[in-house]
Amino acid sequence: MKPWVAICRLEDIPVLGARRVERERGMPVALFRTADDKVFALLDRCPHKGGPLSQGIVAGDGVACPLHGWVIGFADGAARAPDEGRTPTFDCRVDEGVVMLDREQLNRHALEQVPPQAGPCLRAGAVAAVAVHARPPGTVPAPAGA
Ligand code: FES
Repeated sequence: MKPWVAICRLEDIPVLGARRVERERGMPVALFRTADDKVFALLDRCPHKGGPLSQGIVAGDGVACPLHGWVIGFADGAARAPDEGRTPTFDCRVDEGVVMLDREQLNRHALEQVPPQAGPCLRAGAVAAVAVHARPPGTVPAPAGA
């Protein structure tokens, strides 16, 4: 028997909306409520570039990521074709209006998934600008043709 843990009441999740559940370790889980009051749980991370699915738009049996619009299915966490990838799913149930998640999964599932990281801009002009600013004052070369 699963060690279910109560998370919230069904009405705490907006219809066609989401609620984010923080975990002790790992990325948060997003709970989604459909128009017919079904509840699904996905890791709050899009398989494309890590967008926050909890801020997406719920439509039917999936959610459209707020960053680039990939649609992720609730049942299996899979991106809809032609996109590819999968978001981890979590077991979820609603019992007498209480939404519950599996405590073991919350503590152990998908811990390797990390938040997206912002990186340096790698465009040539941006790198050159950084190099110019890194020179000591007074040593910046004169512009070409000066
Ligand atoms: S990060 Fe979700 S569609 Fe790009």
